[in-house]
Amino acid sequence: MTPQSLKLDLNFAIFLNFLTESPVRKIVIAGNWKMFKTQAESLEFLQGFIPSLDETPSEREIVLCAPFTDLNTLSKNLHGSRVQLGAQNVHWEETGPYTGEISSPMLTEIGVRYVIIGHSERRQYFGETDETVNWRLKAAQRCNLTPILCVGETKQQRDDGEIESHITHQLKKGLAEIDQQNLVIAYEPIWAIGTGETCEAKEANRVISLIRTHLSHPSVPIQYGGSVKPNNIDEIMAQPEIDGVLVGGASLEATSFARIVNYQ
Ligand code: 13P
Repeated sequence: MTPQSLKLDLNFAIFLNFLTESPVRKIVIAGNWKMFKTQAESLEFLQGFIPSLDETPSEREIVLCAPFTDLNTLSKNLHGSRVQLGAQNVHWEETGPYTGEISSPMLTEIGVRYVIIGHSERRQYFGETDETVNWRLKAAQRCNLTPILCVGETKQQRDDGEIESHITHQLKKGLAEIDQQNLVIAYEPIWAIGTGETCEAKEANRVISLIRTHLSHPSVPIQYGGSVKPNNIDEIMAQPEIDGVLVGGASLEATSFARIVNYQ
């Protein structure tokens, strides 16, 4: 497909959308590096990754959520590239005696645009609650950061038939008084994170469509996350309700993340 025909297709989609009044949802492909990569390693990643974006369709938003210590270096080296920078957490105050925390203005000053909030690893190991998640979301939005709110059930909750009640609870508390026009949600079933056990694409699509029924704004992109790999990305992104992915392990290596952003 030539760039001109791509542009025509996009214009046609926008026109159709205008007729049907159903919003076009943004596609957001994000890597979550968790606690991996020094600055030197992050630059090495960029060298391998950036050239592979030449063929990536322009409407796909590509985000790298890196450790705090990598963000400034990445920001300088991503200047002029289409890759957006994301952090993995943010505090709810702008300044204050909160040892070890980072605030929204500290992130926006160095060009960060996205921030993951309420990841299950933060909830599980660092005592994050739906209430603190809500405070962090508000603080991010006040500074025009786009939060990526993570929700998802444990294996036990799935086996007990509590998927919807659990996620609805997380959404209700987490999204209280939140502007849904500047928001991404990631459905990350906890049992699928780092286990190699992906949630079936159709099942992820089903849960994501349930999540959508609990949102007030129709254009919120909803990602899937949990053992996304080069060999399952095409099937995941073929699902109509899935608007992107949040990728852990497979985003650490340039060639595998390149295959994911260039899904077919
Ligand atoms: P994996 O892709 O390694 O399963 O991690 C998913 C995740 O937690 C992304 O936030």
